[in-house]
Amino acid sequence: MSEPSASPGSSRSYRQTFQRSVDDREGFWLEAAKLVDWVVEPTTALDSSDAPLYRWFAGAELNTCFNALDRHVLAGRGETTALIYDSPVVGKKKSYSYATLLDKVARFAGVLGDAGVGKGDRVIIYMPMMPQAIIAMLACARLGAVHSVVFGGFAAKELAARIDDAAPVAIVTATGGIEPNRVVEYLPTISAALELSSHSVDTVIVKNRPEVPGRASDYSTETTAWWDWDELSATATPRDPVPVAATDPLYILYTSGTTGAPKGVVRDNGGHAVAMAWSMKNIYGVGQGDVMWTASDVGWVVGHSYIVYGPLIAGATTVLYEGKPVGTPDAGAFWRVVSDYRVKTLFTAPTALRAIRKADPHAALSHQYDLSCLDALFLAGERLDPDTWTWATALLEKPVIDHWWQTETGWAICASPRGLEQLPLRAGSPSFPVPGFNLSIVDEHGQTVPHLDEGNIVISLPLPPGTLTTLWNGDDRYIQQYLSVIPDRYLTGDSGYFDREGYLYVMGRTDDIINVAGHRLSTGSMEQVLAQHPAVAECAVIGVHDEIKGQKPMGYVVLKSGVDISDETLGAELMAMVREQIGAVAAFRDVVVVSGLPKTRSGKILRKTMRQIVNGEDYVVPPTIEDTQSIAVIAETVGR
Ligand code: COA
Ligand code: AMP
Repeated sequence: MSEPSASPGSSRSYRQTFQRSVDDREGFWLEAAKLVDWVVEPTTALDSSDAPLYRWFAGAELNTCFNALDRHVLAGRGETTALIYDSPVVGKKKSYSYATLLDKVARFAGVLGDAGVGKGDRVIIYMPMMPQAIIAMLACARLGAVHSVVFGGFAAKELAARIDDAAPVAIVTATGGIEPNRVVEYLPTISAALELSSHSVDTVIVKNRPEVPGRASDYSTETTAWWDWDELSATATPRDPVPVAATDPLYILYTSGTTGAPKGVVRDNGGHAVAMAWSMKNIYGVGQGDVMWTASDVGWVVGHSYIVYGPLIAGATTVLYEGKPVGTPDAGAFWRVVSDYRVKTLFTAPTALRAIRKADPHAALSHQYDLSCLDALFLAGERLDPDTWTWATALLEKPVIDHWWQTETGWAICASPRGLEQLPLRAGSPSFPVPGFNLSIVDEHGQTVPHLDEGNIVISLPLPPGTLTTLWNGDDRYIQQYLSVIPDRYLTGDSGYFDREGYLYVMGRTDDIINVAGHRLSTGSMEQVLAQHPAVAECAVIGVHDEIKGQKPMGYVVLKSGVDISDETLGAELMAMVREQIGAVAAFRDVVVVSGLPKTRSGKILRKTMRQIVNGEDYVVPPTIEDTQSIAVIAETVGR
């Protein structure tokens, strides 16, 4: 067994646990597997027979929905609150006990089953933050079907790409979502996506929301039957959980990668259930009787793991909040929810705190609420700047725990594991590697770099349970993009360094991914959209620093010669194209027209140098640059 590459801290309990996860991987994960109820118990943890595609708990069987719901009801906890729905945007609050939620999920599993959805079939869920999104996810899990939740801020073209890749039997949706400034109608988007996609979907099931117009019956076509959720549910027979192999997929979650086909992260049933149960206990310190609120969206991985599966598998109470940190109605919304539901653990993205701080710099609104119930605040999704960490720590006088993870890993790679042992926190660092994640920092040749030197953050294989098992339809792509660049390691795509005590500092992505308000986006796919405009000769989209959102995309375009178009018209057209083809969530609002882009002599655009110039960072002009004047052109745009 390899030694952990970074010193995992000095504390004994954390240190010992981490060390055991490396030295006695089988024993460690088989013991963790006891937190889950199995139909067929696992006898081995790791299956390396198809390495580097590792599998966890091969031969074992379970049902994830049973673990999230039935087992708590069978244990006599049916009246415990499983889910609290709080929606300032529609003015509704509702609680669901475990027994009620189980009944609704089993019934909706009946609806899906009657629509022909069975084990292994894919179902796309395109829903706003309403309880039916969770019910639909768990109903799929109950049948052994594979859900793929698509975030509501994505446009028809993105949805169509996911339909073609996942080839679902059914789509579950609602008439729409409510953003503070507008109603977002989903049905026209789904209809457009079905027209764009080559795969044909048999069934669309629509939950009607009185706040949003549209009816399922208006959309049925020869190939796709559209049905009303409530009508089908009224007559459906509840279904029992279907046992699946631990290695069978539970869900596919599409995420931004470099340009090209959508990247569907595949999560299995067994490894995921074990990772959720272990992390709830050891990272968050949340279990039965506790309330956890993850202020994210079910469309993102954070929502999958810690709005839905983690808290429910742990038998805790989860809060589903359909609102924003500010404006619904004010910057006190988070504190109200914490206080109203006696939230023990709050988890959100740093951008949400920055938005609250901007609106209410001294958090005056927080003083109206009793926050004594709060045990800790966890943050992830993007870098937590030390200033925001200091502000939140002073405000709450509770641990504010930065933890680093990715859609691919499904749970934290680095954290201070509060349930296991609260380690001293340091501003700017997500602390230490979580047990199971054996990290190192390497140069481009795979050589470990000394502490304090920045390099690629890699994780030794195998990754622990709960991490991606592959990419949907893309074993080769997974191996090529993540597992082959540095042999025997998973390439995270993030760069960073360890300090002398082993604290990790994540500095940013090494690829074209940016994080805008905690939303992961690809600048490459935005460039693909801009390049379609008839006036654009070439373009580059880079992530520039934004005070609230962390980063925002900025497009640099060079016009074709002889084109006559004003900067304003071009900018408006390009923004509309990105909104239409990727979605509002891309938040693409900045376009700069320049006479040329800095390139190497071989024609490669120097995006990194551009990013450094625009963000006011130090930069070195590469010796291979084609035209040094182009650097001045970019520098001149700063502050324009
Ligand atoms: N459906 C449809 N549209 C959506 C959407 C959704 N679910 N979520 C966001 N959008 C739209 C917004 O309405 C906005 O549209 P607009 O251009 O018409 O104004 C656009 O996408 C950009 O949204 P966003 O980047 O979120 O900016 P914002 O100004 O509306 O809100 C914050 C800023 C910080 C309040 C908000 O981004 C936030 O709460 N972020 C936290 C993110 C998070 O939880 N991430 C999960 C990782 S843990
Ligand atoms: P996502 O897949 O949307 O969760 O985004 C993953 C990416 O977000 C990571 O690869 C990082 O670049 C960034 N990220 C997430 N959490 C953190 C964190 N705590 N600190 C720094 N970057 C983070």
